Amino acid sequence: MVKVSASLDCADYLRLEEEIKKLERAKIDMLHIDIMDGVFVPNFALGTNLLRKLRPATSLTFDVHLMVQNPETFIPLFADLGADIITFHAEVSPRLHYLVDMIKKEGKKAGLALNPSTPPEFLSYLLPYLDLVLLMTVDPGFVGQKFIPEVIYKVEKVREMAEEKGLDLDIAVDGGIGENTVPPLKRAGANVFVAGTTSIFSGREDVEKAALEFKQFCEEC
Ligand code: DX5
Ligand code: ZN
Repeated sequence: MVKVSASLDCADYLRLEEEIKKLERAKIDMLHIDIMDGVFVPNFALGTNLLRKLRPATSLTFDVHLMVQNPETFIPLFADLGADIITFHAEVSPRLHYLVDMIKKEGKKAGLALNPSTPPEFLSYLLPYLDLVLLMTVDPGFVGQKFIPEVIYKVEKVREMAEEKGLDLDIAVDGGIGENTVPPLKRAGANVFVAGTTSIFSGREDVEKAALEFKQFCEEC
């Protein structure tokens, strides 16, 4: 099933409530919530107080992308803040199974993210325990970067590994996702598209209209 996860860090902070209502009206599937610690990536993004305000304000699924070192410190925090899916990076710990289990014990869906430089075989053994694999199509940390086309083969590889194991896995792609990049990624096996400045938050169109059109494009292309 094709899903679109709207990247909240790309929304207009001064009109956040209005933008979220527009995303709800456009029946967007999820809110992609980027959390950065200034260490794993050289930047900061959304924070805990924002999520505290946001959780009672919307019933949209919170797809939390932790770009942080020491995810064990943050998994319980974001679980308490109302995350529905918690995704952390494979590059930050040798104890991936333990961390996935920690997310599951919080009653949340577990995702594992790979930077463009991390080989897909890395997560083969973990696939049966995961709800989602997030393949970064840019180096994480900043919005508005150029899509790295070499990542497409990783999508193919992860879909192939999941099918071999008979798993119905969500494969998400994040960074530079728009009308030029969705078709090859979808053909390769991606089904969750993180929509940021390259699509629904380009500033060229109203967010509601852009979200409706982009969702339809992802479904039909
Ligand atoms: C990159 C972020 C992405 C980003 C995607 O570190 O994780 O979520 O916001 O949006 P664009 O389309 O700007 O690449
Ligand atoms: Zn992200």
